Amino acid sequence: MSQADDIEGNRRDFLYYATAGTGAVAVGAAVWPLVNQMNPSADVRALSSIRVDVSAVEPGTQLTVKWLGKPVFIRRRTAEDIEAGRAVELSDLPDPIAQNNNIAQAPATDENRTMDEAGEWLVMMGVCTHLGCVPIGDGAGDFGGWFCPCHGSHYDTAGRIRKGPAPTNLPIPVAEFLDETTLKLG
Ligand code: FES
Repeated sequence: MSQADDIEGNRRDFLYYATAGTGAVAVGAAVWPLVNQMNPSADVRALSSIRVDVSAVEPGTQLTVKWLGKPVFIRRRTAEDIEAGRAVELSDLPDPIAQNNNIAQAPATDENRTMDEAGEWLVMMGVCTHLGCVPIGDGAGDFGGWFCPCHGSHYDTAGRIRKGPAPTNLPIPVAEFLDETTLKLG
C-alpha cells in the first residue's frame, strides 16, 4: 500500500468514526430527559448542585432556573394554592406516587411534594412528563397549576398530573433550604 492510500484510508476511518460518534450523542440526548432527569446518580448530583437565592420570590410567583440543563420551577404558593393542593384525595390522582427524589416512592400528597411544613415552597423539574415540553405556570390549566400546551396536559397546584397524556407528576428534584432564602438543588 502506498503512503497516499494509507492516508486516504485513515481519513475514511476518521470520517466513519466521526459520523458514528455523532449518532451516539444524538441517541444519548434523546434518552436523557426520560431517565437521567428522573433519577440523577449520586456523582452527577454531587458535581451539579447549585444554590439559588429565593429572597425576591413573592407568594403567587415562580422563579425558573436552569439546572442540569433543564428548567426547575421554584414556586412560592399562595394560601389558595396550598388549600387546593391539600384538599385532593389520592384516589383522584392518575399518578399517586410523589416522584420526589427526597422521599423515594412516597404517596403524592401535597405535603410530600412541598419543601416546608406549611407547603409554601414547591420545587419541581419544569419538564412535562409526556414528551418534555415546558409547561406554562401561574395558575394555568383546569386545575390551577401548570398547563402543557404541546398536547394538553393539566397539572394541579402541587404539580401532579390531573388530565391529559402526561403519565406522571412533575418530578421533584433533590433540594433543601440552607437558610430561609437559599435553596440548594442537588
Ligand atoms: S409534552 Fe406536554 S402534553 Fe405532550
